[in-house]
Amino acid sequence: ASQLAIEAAPTVADAAAPAAPAEAPAVAACFPPSLIDPDVQAALPDGYVIRPLEAADFDKGYLQLLAELTEVGSIERDAFNARFAYFQQHNDTYCPLVIEDTNVGKVVGAGTVVIEHKFLHELGKVGHIEDIVVDANQRGKKLGLRVIAALVFISKQLGSYKTILNCSEGNIGFYEKCGFTKKEVEMVMYH
Ligand code: ACO
Repeated sequence: ASQLAIEAAPTVADAAAPAAPAEAPAVAACFPPSLIDPDVQAALPDGYVIRPLEAADFDKGYLQLLAELTEVGSIERDAFNARFAYFQQHNDTYCPLVIEDTNVGKVVGAGTVVIEHKFLHELGKVGHIEDIVVDANQRGKKLGLRVIAALVFISKQLGSYKTILNCSEGNIGFYEKCGFTKKEVEMVMYH
């Protein structure tokens, strides 16, 4: 896989995403909905909504959608909710979003940006885009492009000076259409 990166001007760090109180997962959204780019929402087809992941997405096909990307395995509702709560409590770091087709109440696109907090670059931050997938029946409608645009917006809002990702050779063209350029190589060690 290759690594792609896009430079993003730093913005006001931490302003938009206060950590959720650990005891209060009553809030539906995994991270503040104010981090969703209104221009990306406006560009979606009628009935399609881009928003933070919600716990209720367990029943809207979120894990089944992720399974179109790679193995998900068996995840019960309690385990899903526990991981959701972890993300919510660390929402200056984990921002998983979805596109829902509200005409059918199904999640049809998903992606996550993970904000890495560094010492380098004067306590700089780097956004890592992960787990991008669009339902096979919905590809070619620019939903993938919208997911990436929304994640880059979040990365910038949370103060990242760049956003990077790893992908297969076959997806380089897609990420170039999203504004990324090829840089360096990915290495891996499985455990
Ligand atoms: N190679 C070259 N160009 C592509 C590719 C590709 N593999 N896929 C899409 N494009 C182009 C489209 O033709 C379109 O071009 P245009 O603007 O000139 O019309 C543009 O990229 C935007 O395409 P979208 O319609 O937004 O793409 P789509 O919604 O179909 O989603 C995605 C693309 C996410 C790669 C989808 O095919 C998918 O889910 N694939 C399976 C899972 C996967 O591989 N995910 C990426 C893993 S890498 C990661 O997670 C960091």
